[in-house]
Amino acid sequence: MGACDCAGCQDALLALWIDKMGETGPVAILEVKGLSKYFGGLAALKDVHLTVREGEIRGIIGPNGAGKTTLFNVISGMYRPSAGEIFYAGRRIDGLPANKIAALGLVRTFQRTALYHEFTVLRNVTVARHLHVRESLFQVIAGNLKQKERENTEKALEIIEFMGLKHLVDEVAVNLPHGYQRALGVAIALACEPKVLLLDEPLTGMTPTEKGHMIDLIRKVHGKDITILIVEHDMRSVMELCEYISVLDFGTLLVEGPPAEIQNNEDVIRAYLGTEDILTVGQS
Ligand SMILES: Nc1ncnc2c1ncn2[C@@H]1O[C@H](COP(=O)(O)OP(=O)(O)OP(=O)(O)O)[C@@H](O)[C@H]1O
Ligand SMILES: [Mg+2]
Repeated sequence: MGACDCAGCQDALLALWIDKMGETGPVAILEVKGLSKYFGGLAALKDVHLTVREGEIRGIIGPNGAGKTTLFNVISGMYRPSAGEIFYAGRRIDGLPANKIAALGLVRTFQRTALYHEFTVLRNVTVARHLHVRESLFQVIAGNLKQKERENTEKALEIIEFMGLKHLVDEVAVNLPHGYQRALGVAIALACEPKVLLLDEPLTGMTPTEKGHMIDLIRKVHGKDITILIVEHDMRSVMELCEYISVLDFGTLLVEGPPAEIQNNEDVIRAYLGTEDILTVGQS
């Protein structure tokens, strides 16, 4: 098969790759090798290695400034790594622009909501789809744009309903309660049809009820065969959601393991000493 970059060919390649890897055991859909990112003299990431299997919900935790958002920024192509390699579905992606990486199916949300605040819920999601689908010149000439527009709107409405935002479809984003704004952030990411979704602090600033609702939504998204990486300070939720957790501290990978191990790991407890994050699930 040629090196065509259209969405159809990329999907076919990904499916072939997953099929092939499925025969040989668990599939690493995302691999980070020796990743470093320097800002001047500051090492935000230092020689980080990470392997995420297809279908996982992977927690990425660590104290403030540990490098979690930087890791997402580098993986998603917002920043170029200073060193190291990133493979997505077997394909090397470090150095590709962010829009290209998103088009391949590796999509992120932001620590702070990245919405068009003056747009309605529907417009936010349809704009995201437009940017993802990018109507070709051929479609413009062939007059297929109206149909494409209809398809985009239908798909956007489907996503909005899936994310429990149907009753707010015509509401302007800035008027939404915080929990719904975060849900809209995820809806915008879903408009890009991700295979891997990077969620940066999806529960921040939420009430307990909003958190419960968002956790249910994340599980629902995961149920659509989407691999999820989640950066979050809410330890109770991370421990509940993730089967495996990677801990960053001062830009390095401190330890990885299942929640029960991470909670009791002395290095992790030490890294969190003096922070407000509570590692023990049983505590409130
Ligand atoms: N664009 C940038 N320019 C300079 N320094 C940066 C930049 N982005 C991040 N840093 C620095 O890199 C380090 C890691 O920051 P990062 O935002 O990745 O941490 P984090 O783990 O996401 O923290 P938090 O939990 O507070 O969100 C910090 O010291 C931060 O100040
Ligand atoms: Mg961060």
